[in-house]
Amino acid sequence: MTRLRWGMVGGGPGAFIGGVHRRAAGLTGQYELVAGAFSGDAQRSRDFGQMLGMDPDRSSGSWETLLERELALPEEQRIQGVSIVTPNHMHYPVARAFAQANIAVVCDKPLVHTSEQAADLMRIVAQTGQLFAVTYNYTGYPMVRQARDLVRSGVLGEIRKVQVLYNQGWLTTRLEGQGNPQADWRTDPQRSGIAGAIGDIGSHAENLVATVTGLTLEAICADLTTFVPGRALDDDASLLLRFQGGARGLLAVSQIACGLENDLSLQVFGTRGSLCWQQEHPNHLDLYPLEGPQQRWTRGNPAVSPAAQAASHVPAGHPEGFTEAFGNLYRGVAETLLARQEGRTPDPQIAQFPTLEDGARGVHFIEKTVESARSEHKWTDALWQSPVSPALPNRS
Ligand SMILES: NC(=O)c1ccc[n+]([C@@H]2O[C@H](COP(=O)([O-])OP(=O)(O)OC[C@H]3O[C@@H](n4cnc5c(N)ncnc54)[C@H](O)[C@@H]3O)[C@@H](O)[C@H]2O)c1
Repeated sequence: MTRLRWGMVGGGPGAFIGGVHRRAAGLTGQYELVAGAFSGDAQRSRDFGQMLGMDPDRSSGSWETLLERELALPEEQRIQGVSIVTPNHMHYPVARAFAQANIAVVCDKPLVHTSEQAADLMRIVAQTGQLFAVTYNYTGYPMVRQARDLVRSGVLGEIRKVQVLYNQGWLTTRLEGQGNPQADWRTDPQRSGIAGAIGDIGSHAENLVATVTGLTLEAICADLTTFVPGRALDDDASLLLRFQGGARGLLAVSQIACGLENDLSLQVFGTRGSLCWQQEHPNHLDLYPLEGPQQRWTRGNPAVSPAAQAASHVPAGHPEGFTEAFGNLYRGVAETLLARQEGRTPDPQIAQFPTLEDGARGVHFIEKTVESARSEHKWTDALWQSPVSPALPNRS
């Protein structure tokens, strides 16, 4: 099997999501991690690269040096793509430089700090045509793809209401400043951006709704709260949403939901049926038709849609989870890049991943939420329009 030569920025010792990206890419068997700037510290980055079995000359404490060295290599040795898994403030400069160098990018969320930065990336990618993915990883769950395909099939009728909740409790107390690096940067506006919980997990909720329902968000009425004294950013958010066509929504996220872990759930209510999916029980999806009995759809069952089948890797009843769903995004990226390389059409059931457009819309959502929360009248126009014309293709 041909493997893609890959690099990573961030994700060094003690990091959270970098290791998930490596394991997720590893599940596909389609990537070889050959270069990295895993930490801003040269020795730590080098040691970490060696621990991963990499050539010491291809790990660096500086992403600029990493890029420079890679560009000096012959094309057939150079990395073909990079994963950006640093705190949020680093996403933009790193993504910009690698995208400009025509290297494929897989960037974690939220994409960047501002819509201007997002538009800049979109203009670069519109010119190069290079792949750019954003890891809204919940969209990689087979039963999320099944939910999307059920909505598309029309079985729910016209969507009237959407409810998405994401409750975590890990920031119930003031963890920042106490040796928890993940809490430190997430609560620091310089590194996290203008939002706390709404940027960190609200952006996932927004993307989940958009992916499953296909609805276009029109307006937001937001209430952002900081419960923990001394914290600079929101740790709790309650939003009302209005969509084009008349559907309404409720989006609530919290990082002070004491005792809760990753309690993400989505409910979609239509004129002919409703559905419910829960991230902590991701292998099934409940469907409530207007007529007839309630149905539980299970991952791996032959009745699920082709995309849900393609995203499933072991027989029904053997649980799959977070890492496999993440791996489905990497599989989609690899399928797209390898198809280009081999001059063939990618398999549409596999080549699925959130794009730069999703990332840019997520940044807009965060900005509009904060704008609404700060405004007197609350209801704020939130319609996103692509800054590039023609719009980027849905699959980069
Ligand atoms: N998709 C998801 O489910 C998910 C989950 C968690 C985090 N994230 C996102 O992933 C990113 C990282 O989050 P995390 O929780 O893993 O953070 P983390 O603090 O655990 O890890 C960040 C890593 O970046 C490295 N880093 C910092 N500055 C660097 C530099 N200049 N050069 C090279 N490396 C540098 C750190 O050394 C560390 O290894 C964030 O954007 C976050 O929003 C996404």
